[in-house]
Amino acid sequence: MKKSLSGIKPTGKLTLGNYIGALRNFPKMQEEYENYIFVADLHALTLPIDPDYLRNNTRDLVALYLACGLDPKKTTIFLQSDVSEHSELNAIIQNYLYMGELSRMTQFKAKSASLNQNAIGLGLFAYPVLMCADILLYDADVVPVGEDQKQHVELCRDLVHRFNTRYKKEIFKMPEPIVPSVGARIMSLTDPTKKMSKSGEKGDIYLLEDLTSIRKKIMRAETDLGSDIYFDKENKPGISNLLTIYASLKDISIKEAEEHFKDLHRYGDFKKEVADVVCEEIAKIQQKYNEIINSNLIDEVLKEGKEKAKSIAKMVLTRVQKAVGIYGK
Ligand code: AMP
Ligand code: TRP
Repeated sequence: MKKSLSGIKPTGKLTLGNYIGALRNFPKMQEEYENYIFVADLHALTLPIDPDYLRNNTRDLVALYLACGLDPKKTTIFLQSDVSEHSELNAIIQNYLYMGELSRMTQFKAKSASLNQNAIGLGLFAYPVLMCADILLYDADVVPVGEDQKQHVELCRDLVHRFNTRYKKEIFKMPEPIVPSVGARIMSLTDPTKKMSKSGEKGDIYLLEDLTSIRKKIMRAETDLGSDIYFDKENKPGISNLLTIYASLKDISIKEAEEHFKDLHRYGDFKKEVADVVCEEIAKIQQKYNEIINSNLIDEVLKEGKEKAKSIAKMVLTRVQKAVGIYGK
């Protein structure tokens, strides 16, 4: 069976963007792939974060994984920090990635731009190295991610090619990014030229946000002055973003969404319908989340996940250690 792997950083409250671009697609993978989903808690340390906030976000994220339909019988759910092989593989593969290519990563450039240039953490720079270790440790064939992470998976592909060529053997499996055809980049509702992120601004919708507040944000979403509803990212970024949200949640194409709204000429009515779909989906998730968050299920799932993940990771790490010449392996 082919393998799928993905993860999310517990750096803040999950947004509708995380859900549509990534999370929502994870349970679909468990039907066809051997599925690995983890919490990238070591990656969460790449920018300063309060320890209690990180702990709470980690628990929330596992509860949300389960609430969105990940079945621990079909998916191995675990914490990155629980499997020390991630750090061990990281220590090896960092020698096969170049500082030049890491400094060209869009996410690094964007995140480091706002920092004091003398105090950029090495971990932020080396972020994609650890991400390669995450992917390679499970021989993942596919990696479902949103648009912004595609570049990191492509870097991982370069690494695989470089490494396997050097050792003249298929040591690492070549992974493929899977980016949703609709909804790979959900934009902020107040500024549809900016990505929706966990930054806590008014344009971001959170999976654990009060439904009345979500509805308000959608009804107030930034749009143009026209009245027709069609997709035009350049001239109608706000409407295009709402259409994308609608189409993703309905599992239809943008064309089908346009067709659905073609006789509607009032943005207010359009927004109301988008808000209904969003609230209906999020209400279901919140209900399940509330059932899970205070139960023992989270710790049980993580314990079992750790054992399963570790057994695979150990095998792959040994294979790599052997290949590079670590004594006694
Ligand atoms: P992060 O929040 O950076 O840990 O991202 C977790 C996953 O959500 C990654 O696969 C991202 O590509 C995806 N993601 C984050 N923000 C968005 C967004 N605004 N639209 C679509 N996907 C997103
Ligand atoms: N970098 C991803 C993000 O920001 C999270 C992540 C870490 C990840 N390791 C991964 C995603 C491996 C897919 C595969 O969202």
